[in-house]
Amino acid sequence: AGSNGTLSTHSTHLITRRLREINVYSEMLPCTQKLAELTWKPKGIILSGGPYSVYEEGAPHVDPAFFELGVPILGICYGLQEIAHRLHADNVVAGTAREYGHADLKATRFGGHVDKLFEGLEDSMPVWMSHGDKVRPSTFEARGAKIRQLCNLPEGFHTIGETKNSEYAAIAHKSEPVYGLQFHPEVTHTPQGGQLLKNFAVGICGAQQTWTMSEFIGREIIRIRELVGPTGQVLGAVSGGVDSTVAAKLLTEAIGDRFHAVLVDNGCMRLNECETVKDVLQKQLGINLTVVDASEEFLAGLKGEHDPEKKRKFIGGKFIDVFEEEARKIEAKSSGKVEWFLQGTLYPDVIESISFKGPSQTIKTHHNVGGIAERLMAGHGLKLIEPLRELFKDEVRELGRQLKISEELVGRHPFPGPGLAIRVLGEVTKEKVDMARKADHIFIGMIREAGLYDDIGQAYAALDPSRAVGVMGDKRVYANIILLRAISTKDFMTATPYPFAYDFLSKVATRIVNEVEGVCRVAYDFTSKPPGTIEME
Ligand code: XMP
Repeated sequence: AGSNGTLSTHSTHLITRRLREINVYSEMLPCTQKLAELTWKPKGIILSGGPYSVYEEGAPHVDPAFFELGVPILGICYGLQEIAHRLHADNVVAGTAREYGHADLKATRFGGHVDKLFEGLEDSMPVWMSHGDKVRPSTFEARGAKIRQLCNLPEGFHTIGETKNSEYAAIAHKSEPVYGLQFHPEVTHTPQGGQLLKNFAVGICGAQQTWTMSEFIGREIIRIRELVGPTGQVLGAVSGGVDSTVAAKLLTEAIGDRFHAVLVDNGCMRLNECETVKDVLQKQLGINLTVVDASEEFLAGLKGEHDPEKKRKFIGGKFIDVFEEEARKIEAKSSGKVEWFLQGTLYPDVIESISFKGPSQTIKTHHNVGGIAERLMAGHGLKLIEPLRELFKDEVRELGRQLKISEELVGRHPFPGPGLAIRVLGEVTKEKVDMARKADHIFIGMIREAGLYDDIGQAYAALDPSRAVGVMGDKRVYANIILLRAISTKDFMTATPYPFAYDFLSKVATRIVNEVEGVCRVAYDFTSKPPGTIEME
């Protein structure tokens, strides 16, 4: 759903997270979801916050059938107002005093079902009101948004919690399990919010706490086997990254060699990457893997191309050509028809695709490999299989650990599909890729030795092919520049430069200049995202 200039999908998914952390399975559904089209019956419903006012034109409203379902309902912020709106309490107004951030909630106990929401909690607790931790009041006011609150209780409801500025900070129906909270229990600034959500999900809805990775593996293997059938074949691209490796291992556990993994060497991979991936996937994880060396084709196609977007498009398109060719060969060799294509879609991608996109909402465009799934589905009639679709990144990592994938692989930094091609600025040649590759190897190795790898979101070395003058030995040199980039980030949507010690960067620079021929200078990129992106191109 959505509320008033406040938290949007960025916090809505946190509700899902908090519930999964207590092993309760939860799904985030779009506010446009029709109950009749839902294939499973929820034990409870949470209506989230979001950037609207219930009376705004175009504001999202929940299918009324959800209110008839007879399961407990908890409304948060906009969700609370939606409940009031549905119950014809025409009484949501702009609050007289705006309430940002921290507030103290005083709980009122009435006995009976109402008290279950606050079970085990103090009568007074800190809560986080109505806006995201990144939105400062000034930004918020500048947008002219007003926090809306209830001015009257809907019929049949009690107030079960008040704050200084919000008389109806928490409400509950007197006899039905329907609750509303003006504050956000899902954010960490509401320290007892997790317990509150647990009280609702487990205590009130009776949800089972069985969402664990070992249960997930068992269930998913059965589902994959049923879906694919006893002879079905599945094809999937792997990159050596966490998601594709975990998905490939899961498919291997389910159907063995009827899963065919393909690794395409595009000539722009990291040092020893192909050999390492081959070794780990084939030997350690027993995955049926084919490595296709298309490096020359890729490098030949990139010749003369300076434009970042055109480089990306070429690599995406070429990747599909190579992959399709390999799919034909695998099909010719294998006993049955290849009907399925494995895609490592994660839950955040699903969330982005179901988000209610109102007039002022912009959603990040996703990087995918030039629509490979669409082309394989249309051209070869392949069907998609997406075993990680329900999982967040850290759940995928946990799944990887359960599947005995090494900690080193499970904790790897992301690496972009086009690889070093977007880390060599401008035209890509084998020599330039080699320089970026060697510098990157040194930088990442030193980060690991210093014990900093897991603290950094992503790090790499890129090549700036402009040249600078230097003196090496007694000679004047005129050589390339290496750019180091390392960032701290939560979600890769925003990032800040990683604060290395000066001494560390200085040692990295010395080694790179000494060991990578053709390089005479090293610079560290201090740009945050935004305005910089994480990758150079
Ligand atoms: P940017 O550069 O947009 O990157 O700030 C955000 C995250 O996305 C990764 N990235 C890609 N991943 N294919 C991918 O699979 C791509 O084309 C691609 N481009 C960027 C980037 O490494 C960072 O983690």
